[in-house]
Amino acid sequence: MKRSAADIREDLQAHVDFLVEAGAGFVIRRSGDEAGSGAPAAAGAALPPLAARPPQTSEERAALEETDRQVRACTLCVLHKFRTNAVPGEGNPAAELMFIGEGPGRDEDAQGRPFVGRAGQLLRKIIAAMTFREDEVYIANMVKCRPPDNRVPHQEEIEACWPYLIRQIELIRPRVIVTLGRTPTDSFAPGREGMTVRRGKFGDYRGIPVMPTFHPSYLVRNEGNRELKRMVWEDMQKVMALLGRK
Ligand code: URA
Repeated sequence: MKRSAADIREDLQAHVDFLVEAGAGFVIRRSGDEAGSGAPAAAGAALPPLAARPPQTSEERAALEETDRQVRACTLCVLHKFRTNAVPGEGNPAAELMFIGEGPGRDEDAQGRPFVGRAGQLLRKIIAAMTFREDEVYIANMVKCRPPDNRVPHQEEIEACWPYLIRQIELIRPRVIVTLGRTPTDSFAPGREGMTVRRGKFGDYRGIPVMPTFHPSYLVRNEGNRELKRMVWEDMQKVMALLGRK
């Protein structure tokens, strides 16, 4: 039976109301503006390119450590109230390859390290399959403190944390960035389509190629879906080819 437009509108409204109540502020923003990209998405355009990789100086290494310290002491957004540990990121301070996730979960909050839970174990397997050691890459997140109940970080939380992430990128100057899931992809390779369409195509952040792919926790939640794994592997092979690992 065909449903009336009014019925469909009512259902849709109820769905949106539910998501907003659950803390998904992005639902409102995405409908009206540039694909929900907000300030961070536009930020790269006006900044100097980072594609050239002069060797990292000892001052830059020290600045990266100082950024970690600032993150651990940060109170810029409400998320600091819920944290056990802030999670600045970890890995090689001069990594060629940088992964950016959404934000710490329970395990990460407990340990102060990124991607150490189930999704993290999968990410670390993917990194190994790409022929990288963990200490060769850098792993960071859009927000450095755990959102309560693992909700998606709000735009104002992402914006508060954004300068830390950009500082990390400027100091590390990776040759390639991989964005894991929608939250980092919205800022680094914005678009209106879902991840199924946006994944696998290089974007650009200030001269650094950005490869969006599915978040490992999405793969964990859809464990039996081999097609998802195949797609992530296809995306990672493009990254490997760019870095001469294939
Ligand atoms: N998911 C993320 O996005 N980041 C983490 O550090 C862990 C899980």
